[in-house]
Amino acid sequence: MQSNGGDPHLGPILISHDDLHSRIGALGAQITADYQGRPPLMVGVLKGAFVFMADLVRCIDLPVEVDFMAVSSYGSATKTSGVVRIVKDLDVDLTDRHVLLVEDIVDSGLTLSYLRKNLMARGPASLEVCALLAKQTEHDVDDEVRYVGFDIPDEFVVGYGLDVAERHRNLRDVRQYLTDDAT
Ligand code: IMP
Repeated sequence: MQSNGGDPHLGPILISHDDLHSRIGALGAQITADYQGRPPLMVGVLKGAFVFMADLVRCIDLPVEVDFMAVSSYGSATKTSGVVRIVKDLDVDLTDRHVLLVEDIVDSGLTLSYLRKNLMARGPASLEVCALLAKQTEHDVDDEVRYVGFDIPDEFVVGYGLDVAERHRNLRDVRQYLTDDAT
């Protein structure tokens, strides 16, 4: 049963809880195979990646470490401007670490390219990116994102950690959000 929780903009389920879990299991298995002998430091990007990160780390059979950074991007409720501010930085030093950056969604790729540059400057042994969702925009993210959960259409989505104005992060499924400029 899909409720709109009193928000008329909340649209249909795009990716169900069950589909999220089976895909994340497969991503975890792939990461486990790829990082044998060099367990990654997993860096979650708050706030959006917190639910994905929690499920993903439990699907990886390696002694991973986790850390988080929080960024806020300037822009409207549903579009980022690419100007990113680090609100909480990492606690650990990245020098010679195998870093796996865990993102909720890549849209224009501007946030990711800022973070990649910032983290590369800290001297990691390697840096790869795992994003739960990648929007199909004219910008091709395949070269920048090693692990992608789902390619989705260029629509605004909420749930499973993703928000609109801080709402709907706690939905179990990924759902469409019908914004005024998308209609
Ligand atoms: P980018 O810089 O355009 O790639 O945007 C990336 C960031 O914008 C993500 O980490 C999200 O925080 C936010 N974002 C982009 N698209 C969506 C969406 O459809 N729903 C919720 N947040 C989004």
